[in-house]
Amino acid sequence: MAAGIDDIAIYIPRLYIDAADFAKARGLDPEKLQKGLGVSQMAIVDTNQDPACLAANACLQIMQKNKLSPEDIGRLYISTESSFDESKAMNSYVIGMLEQVYGQGAFEHCGGVETKFACVSGSYALYDNTNWIRAGEAEGKHALVVVSDIAKYDMGTSGEMTQGAGAVVMLLNDEPRLLAFDPKVTATSIKDEYDFYRPFGKETPIVHGQYSNLLYMIQVRKALEIYKKRALSSGLMKLEPGETILDHMDYLNMHLPYSNMGKKALAYLVRHEWRQLPRWKKIIQEIGMSEPVPKDPRGTIESVLGDEEFMAKDHEFTKLFTKTREYQELYEAKLASSLIASKMIGNLYTASLYLGFRSCLEFEYQKGVDLNGKRVGFGSYGSGSSAMVFSGLIQPQYEEIVKNMNLEAELAPRRKLTLQEYEILHENKLSPEEPMLHTKREFILVDVNTTTESRGERRYIFNE
Ligand code: COA
Repeated sequence: MAAGIDDIAIYIPRLYIDAADFAKARGLDPEKLQKGLGVSQMAIVDTNQDPACLAANACLQIMQKNKLSPEDIGRLYISTESSFDESKAMNSYVIGMLEQVYGQGAFEHCGGVETKFACVSGSYALYDNTNWIRAGEAEGKHALVVVSDIAKYDMGTSGEMTQGAGAVVMLLNDEPRLLAFDPKVTATSIKDEYDFYRPFGKETPIVHGQYSNLLYMIQVRKALEIYKKRALSSGLMKLEPGETILDHMDYLNMHLPYSNMGKKALAYLVRHEWRQLPRWKKIIQEIGMSEPVPKDPRGTIESVLGDEEFMAKDHEFTKLFTKTREYQELYEAKLASSLIASKMIGNLYTASLYLGFRSCLEFEYQKGVDLNGKRVGFGSYGSGSSAMVFSGLIQPQYEEIVKNMNLEAELAPRRKLTLQEYEILHENKLSPEEPMLHTKREFILVDVNTTTESRGERRYIFNE
């Protein structure tokens, strides 16, 4: 049975900071953000928004667009790493909000949980819900998988350049118009790590940025190895001499904590795949230097990062490699379109990969590419750490959905924050009753209870 993504909707907060303003205020070269990281704007939540609001706004949009009633929905999963309760699942808040529109008890029949594994948990939620459909348990109902996050780092840290916020919701069913997942190939890797984590009660994460960059690439590469074995043994793909598995993927969507991380990760995977192939000889000639090897090739991530000579040479090699015609062609054809939205919105943690997928569909379609039957590969990563590699085929009815995608229009009524306003928001100096914007027809947070007996209870309304 086919199962996959039938439709996709996004909700992005209406406030943002501009990378150039931010760089100026922090005494940084704007080029570091714009060129070095690929960050132009970062979406910022208002005082009356939390990740549950973002998720509910995205859900309402997809339900209204598809004229779905709550009866059509069998499961509502939320994946987030911006959770605000240790016990009550975020989907319960979202159902509470949706029932303000659809009527109390309208979603009573609907199951679901909040899933957590840093940025990768949405991919696990998609996989589980796809299998729920494949197993015939859905009985004609759809699943909503929402990925919703606020990427917020401490002020003055290097992570602060890579913030953002938003939610992506995917409607899953057995007749998907957008993408059907390839069966029996989904591959995972997992390792106990401390590259990025957020201890109880702390609003912002503790981050070892460069460590997490490298770990991301290593973990995704490991998952790709398993994907490769499964794709070949299941007969999904057949490699001719001189080919790599990546030749059989038309698009590669990577986890995007910032857009250039997609470029970095793709270059890492492609180097790994091409190294074994006859084409590598020509590439090395074109680059004019041999591929550097760390002093201790079997060493730890710390030893590799601490090997300054290797790191400098490897950086130089990567830069030259990404300038080769072969890599440039692959980058333009398979990755570039997926990075556009990330540059305009910033980091969405769990939702980054899926905002990238949405961006890929919209901007490839705009190029005039016939997307029917194209295979999309996904490289998902969550700190702590786990990676997932999987793929799917774009379906014949994709155009029905993609032709109406218009990121610019969806983002249009945004307001640029001054750095002072941003810092006030960042330091939580205002209450939900003091928003920067008064939005209409959106779910908003009204208050968070502070009394001993009901501490933490949240009240939301649909702002008519
Ligand atoms: N002009 C143009 N480019 C510049 C520049 C300038 N003036 N200054 C720096 N750059 C480039 C660097 O060369 C680098 O590019 P490269 O990766 O291609 O080499 C890029 O900008 C970033 O610079 P770097 O010095 O690596 O940044 P940093 O160490 O200050 O911070 C992160 C980068 C990603 C580590 C940091 O933002 C962070 O911790 N982010 C959160 C964690 C994260 O996103 N992890 C990812 C895995 S999930």
